[in-house]
Amino acid sequence: MSFKIVEQAPARLNRSELAVPGSQPQLFEKAAKSAADVIFLDLEDAVAPDDKVQARKNVIQALHDINWGTKTLSVRINGLDTHFMYRDVVDVIEQGGERLDLIMIPKVGTPEDVYAVDMLVTQCEAAIGRKKRIGFEMIIETALGMQNVHAISAASKRNESLHFGVADYAASTKAKTTNIGGANPAYSILTDKDEKGGRDVHWGDMWHYAVARMVVAARANGLRPVDGPFGDFGDADGYKAAGGRANVLGCEGKWAIHPSQVGLANELFSPAEAEVKKAERIMEAMAQAQKEGKGAVSLDGRLIDLASIRQAEVLLAKARQISGAE
Ligand code: GLV
Ligand code: MG
Repeated sequence: MSFKIVEQAPARLNRSELAVPGSQPQLFEKAAKSAADVIFLDLEDAVAPDDKVQARKNVIQALHDINWGTKTLSVRINGLDTHFMYRDVVDVIEQGGERLDLIMIPKVGTPEDVYAVDMLVTQCEAAIGRKKRIGFEMIIETALGMQNVHAISAASKRNESLHFGVADYAASTKAKTTNIGGANPAYSILTDKDEKGGRDVHWGDMWHYAVARMVVAARANGLRPVDGPFGDFGDADGYKAAGGRANVLGCEGKWAIHPSQVGLANELFSPAEAEVKKAERIMEAMAQAQKEGKGAVSLDGRLIDLASIRQAEVLLAKARQISGAE
């Protein structure tokens, strides 16, 4: 291990993160009763410019009036390049009470963007004597943000999570997409010809680099990496495939842009029973190995070593976190 200890963000479940437009207060109660781990009330892209002011009022009222239970609650503010953003922060914190946990900052491009929001949030909290410190979720969804993702991750003590905003990322990088977060058949490889001259097409994951880069930046700074939206909410299999890949790479969860995606995310990002059992067996086998003075042993015909213990510990900690919350 490095001599540098990576401080971890507060441990929150972040398997499903449900997006709810601030301009649609009729959806708030249902969202509060859903199984989502995190809800973000949106003031940004799901709200038309003419509705921004009313949406902000709706969100402030909902922070007081709705029973959000034990959910983590976030508000997505407008971008730093708009004239809505400062008032989003000031009004939501000064008038929204203590319930809000996080602020989601969209289209973060540089660490100074985070610094600027931190300065504003710090002043608002101090001015009203807020007791609970607000944390930050940051959406990495521009080429600039992806270029600076490591510095962004380390830019504030409030930082808790990074999110891959695939829709804006595609716009920013001029990537050619089909639907939000989906695959593009043009991003594929052809196998060599077989004896009969036939060739197979293998679709590739055009988002692999972006998600993997975000995961590294997040984990190196103790933050939660979270995969963003999947637009075709009628395609549960497509959602599961995208979320499954993000899970394999190390993400903690995925956005739900429709309530039907919440359960899919919770299942994808919860360790399966068989995985938990296997992790427990690894811990037992390694405890036995250590008693015998060995650093590595075999289990089911496969090598396990001290790194296997660390992986098993991560998985068991996640399983305990989930069973503690449910
Ligand atoms: C999310 O904000 C996205 O742009 O995908
Ligand atoms: Mg976006």
